[in-house]
Amino acid sequence: MKTISDLGDLRGKRVLVRSDLNVPLDGTTITDDGRVRASVPTIVQLADAGAQVLVVAHLGRPEGKPDAKYSLEPVATRLGELIEPQVYFAKDTVGEDAKNQIASLANGDVLVLENVRFNAGETSKDDAVRGKFADELAELADVFVSDGFGVVHRKQASVYDIATRLPAAVGGLVEAEVKVLKRLTESPERPYTVVLGGSKVSDKLGVIDNLLDKADNLLIGGGMVFTFLKAQGHEVGKSLLEEDQLDIARDYIAQAEAKGVKLVLPTDIVVAPEFKDANASTVAADSIPADQLGLDIGPDSGAAFAALIASSRTVFWNGPMGVFEMSSFEAGTRAVAQALTEVDGLSVVGGGDSAAAVRQLGFEDSDFGHISTGGGASLEYLEGKTLPGLDILEGK
Ligand code: 3PG
Ligand code: MG
Repeated sequence: MKTISDLGDLRGKRVLVRSDLNVPLDGTTITDDGRVRASVPTIVQLADAGAQVLVVAHLGRPEGKPDAKYSLEPVATRLGELIEPQVYFAKDTVGEDAKNQIASLANGDVLVLENVRFNAGETSKDDAVRGKFADELAELADVFVSDGFGVVHRKQASVYDIATRLPAAVGGLVEAEVKVLKRLTESPERPYTVVLGGSKVSDKLGVIDNLLDKADNLLIGGGMVFTFLKAQGHEVGKSLLEEDQLDIARDYIAQAEAKGVKLVLPTDIVVAPEFKDANASTVAADSIPADQLGLDIGPDSGAAFAALIASSRTVFWNGPMGVFEMSSFEAGTRAVAQALTEVDGLSVVGGGDSAAAVRQLGFEDSDFGHISTGGGASLEYLEGKTLPGLDILEGK
């Protein structure tokens, strides 16, 4: 894959850079700016090279038309606070405002274009419709840089089709992310432990399948625990349960045993009568009362998970262990995060949600080997899937 240095002299060139600026917002307040900060080095590198930098990105999932609550304007403002170069914001992506502002950019300026998903062509499943929008994007610029790692698993105009229309290269963030994921998939140092959380088994099927052939330990927490516990014949009370995944969970338990992979489930669970930060108690995982629901892994489980993690040489973690946003149910996620900081080897936090969780719990990015900016993208990479946004750049 070509990198930015292969693009030649960028002075005076218009460079369209796809970044992933999809940050969590509370109104117009960014609650975790990790993805903005992760996008800074490439944007600054291009501006310093004298390019006119056009940043294209999405926020949330608007329905192909403008929707003020998904405007990238607060993100552009944040970017402007973080970097030296002048940052401007265009009120559309390929429309009049974008074109007018592009015409008056100076070398080294940065223009953030409004949410690319305000245009129906961006996410269209129809190749011709997507292609037509990619043509409009391509007209704005001379070269394309793909740096939005969190979105490379999407076959969308600003990620995929654009790369066939302009000279294209990967940015440093995508390069760095892929390098780490290669270390996880090609020859991980052992023991290799994978920690999976989050609410649904059905989101993690592909990755569990693939990792049963690669990992030494597979630790399961979060809401999907209850489907596994039920599959083992335990009652789970009012906890989250995916009935239609029970056979699959049973199959994973059997496969893990056959392949010598240690599949570890929590032995204790923090429960409460309601989805509320009140009246929490800890029970054994095989005796969750009928009137309670599980909201975190318990302290014994947290300690057992932590011990396995801290003695591993390679760890990948995706998905919180419990409802870490509520103080009664954050301890499991905290124990896992803390153990990752103690790994003598490579520790990777995968995904927007897990990344936001560790920051909310007060950890620093530098406590970990790598914090991925891509949740879905890193999981799909670990599943061994082809990621369209990377695939299209191969051989370039
Ligand atoms: C993410 O937040 O996972 C990425 O930005 C991709 O967003 P999407 O899942 O809406 O395509
Ligand atoms: Mg500034």
